[in-house]
Amino acid sequence: MRRADDRHLAPDDEAWWRNAVFYQVYIRSFADANGDGVGDLEGVRGRLGYLELLGVDALWLTPFFRSPMVDHGYDVSDPRDVDPLFGDLETFDRLVADAHRHGLRVTIDLVPNHTSDRHEWFQAAVTAAPGGPERARYLFRDGRSFGGSQPPNNWTSVFGGPAWTRLPGADQWYLHLFAPEQPDLNWENPEVAADLERTLRFWLGRGVDGFRIDVAHGMAKPAGLPDMPHQVGVCPSLLERDGADPRFDADGVHDIHRMIRKVLDEYPARVAIGEIRVADDAAFARYVRPGELHLGFNFRLLEADFNADSVRAAIEHSLVAVQGSPAPATWTISNHDTVRPVTRYGGGEVGLARARAMALVQLALPGPAYLYNGDELGLPNVELPDWVLQDPVWKRSGHTERGRDGCRIPLPWESGTSPYGFSATPGTWLPMPGDWAGRTVEAQLEDPSSTLSLYRQALELRQRHTAFTGTEVEWYGAPPGCLAFRRRGGGLVCALNASGAPVSLPAGQVLLASGPLRPIGDPLPPDTAVWLKE
Ligand code: GLC
Repeated sequence: MRRADDRHLAPDDEAWWRNAVFYQVYIRSFADANGDGVGDLEGVRGRLGYLELLGVDALWLTPFFRSPMVDHGYDVSDPRDVDPLFGDLETFDRLVADAHRHGLRVTIDLVPNHTSDRHEWFQAAVTAAPGGPERARYLFRDGRSFGGSQPPNNWTSVFGGPAWTRLPGADQWYLHLFAPEQPDLNWENPEVAADLERTLRFWLGRGVDGFRIDVAHGMAKPAGLPDMPHQVGVCPSLLERDGADPRFDADGVHDIHRMIRKVLDEYPARVAIGEIRVADDAAFARYVRPGELHLGFNFRLLEADFNADSVRAAIEHSLVAVQGSPAPATWTISNHDTVRPVTRYGGGEVGLARARAMALVQLALPGPAYLYNGDELGLPNVELPDWVLQDPVWKRSGHTERGRDGCRIPLPWESGTSPYGFSATPGTWLPMPGDWAGRTVEAQLEDPSSTLSLYRQALELRQRHTAFTGTEVEWYGAPPGCLAFRRRGGGLVCALNASGAPVSLPAGQVLLASGPLRPIGDPLPPDTAVWLKE
């Protein structure tokens, strides 16, 4: 494993992110230091040693800004302060300094598409008269039909229901692509850009290494806010895309990214990655042109089914989408908005084997990789009873979509009973299953066959082995239902068997396998991936 003295941040490494492994900390669920049942910044600080041991290079911290927490922090009421639930600015500063000492860069979320309805701007807009400057920071419109009783257009909210809410007293409507408590900002108003610039400089000045930009395909809206050509389902998943959807990917969004990039370029070695959900590779490519985002989240791999054709197509699309741009492709199979891989790939032992295999596929690919906290422990999604569900999606969909709580259960650290060292209180913000004793960090650390050990070995090899040096992917012939690729240059071969039956191993020295391989000359079992050195 990596030695502590090897960890340092090279200050002159401008493009440190090009091959970095980022670890997404969903703060509410990572570690709770003050015993209120909700994870916090001090909790993250206390676990930096673990993250160093795991071998990741950088953190992505989900929103910890002041917020009424309707969408767990993605509804920001003050983007330049820490919510007391998570700590304060001093704790944040200590966390950044300590993370840097542990050799970990710190990137944070930025939420430019909307604010909370409790933001002082929106509070002022609600009490101001229509047509005034207070309302001009958001997207207020008169309603259609008699007395303005119908919403200004037919847009739906990503979380279900109409994307418009009317102020009381037969007043105007305002746009919210997410919950009504998340009003969309009017990016045509220069005050909005100026405020985001302040926010960027505020956190850059405090030493953050970059940003994950929430809904980076949102912000700009098409002139006249035209109707959607057709209605999408009552509650489309966050992953659905439609090329003809006027709510997202308006041309003006690129001016905003150029503005953000200009600010970041004034500070050395910072990075911006956008959450980009657009129709196709060509639309994606526009976000990573020179002068725009350094990186874009491409969700193709995350959306791929566990079969060779689907995984291969996802990799090919992700590579094509950045071809000719300065950005490498980024790889992710999980985040706080998606069913966890173990469950998505079938659940139980099979789901776990497949998730482990896909982790090796992900980490073999050249370019930055994003891990979601808890995936290194092989955590599954958790089925929660109705009465504990908190995601606004549950309510907004009229209780037809359960939402994303199942992938946001607090992490089990140690001991045989809930809350497994996550918190001092058993009353964690979402309940933890009673059967996670075998999944704790403590239980997995010394077990060489655990998922945590697999991740540690994979990250160690990725960091140090010369096989990982090539930046180009070359496909290898593979039996039906399997895929294999080589990194040209270093000679790493990654083979995935999704065929359902054993197949013979490609030639080469085995560096790591996601499941047990029988001795010499034996086949690659189903639901397994292997790394070989040619
Ligand atoms: C992004 C976030 C998601 C949030 C939404 C609204 O998609 O990942 O968690 O609910 O934006 O901010």
